[in-house]
Amino acid sequence: MKQSEQARRAYLDALGIDLWIPRDAVDALAMPEIDEAGIGDMDWEPLESRVAACTRCSLHESRTQTVFGVGNRDADWMIIGEAPGAEEDRRGEPFVGRAGQLLDEMLKAVGQSRARVFIANILKCRPPNNRDPKPDEAAACREYLERQVALVGPSIILAVGRIAAQQLIGTDAPVGRLRGRRHAFGDTPLIVTYHPAYLLRSPVQKRKAWDDLCLARSVLSEGAR
Ligand code: URA
Repeated sequence: MKQSEQARRAYLDALGIDLWIPRDAVDALAMPEIDEAGIGDMDWEPLESRVAACTRCSLHESRTQTVFGVGNRDADWMIIGEAPGAEEDRRGEPFVGRAGQLLDEMLKAVGQSRARVFIANILKCRPPNNRDPKPDEAAACREYLERQVALVGPSIILAVGRIAAQQLIGTDAPVGRLRGRRHAFGDTPLIVTYHPAYLLRSPVQKRKAWDDLCLARSVLSEGAR
């Protein structure tokens, strides 16, 4: 209810004047004010609030908080990972653990930074014990990510790791077969690379990740021409 209407009713009430309200309006008054917009029409603030209150899958029971995404909401580069880990769940920001530090270095190598790109995950809540996201969890979260991509309107998406790549491309092929070529998420070109957590365990693959970043950069500059 608008403040002016609230004030009018309080005033009439104070004067002892009964107010006649149609039944359907009474029903509407009993309802909490909720944002009726569909997710596909939402702007950033309502979308972030909707995600923060999400109970679409059981992960809401074990999360500390949702991890919405961070960075430039008008970015050229959008980085999409898998799901928050323990540190991300605690801090409410994606890629803030050791893997995140490596991601920051990878971005720096191609002239980007955490502040210039937008970083999000397939899942907004941490799966317990860092297990892989279940298909129903990824499906429940998908609309949020799609809306984030639509709002950012990136020129390039970098899918980091198997889960992100498979979910975004709609395949079960391994990263080794998906990297090194151009895919698309809707109209947006998408490049796959290794997850930084994997690169920490297998540093010899860093060379390939560098090639992937260069490919992403060249796809982006082709699009700009
Ligand atoms: N791994 C991910 O895929 N995302 C994070 O936010 C952190 C670790």
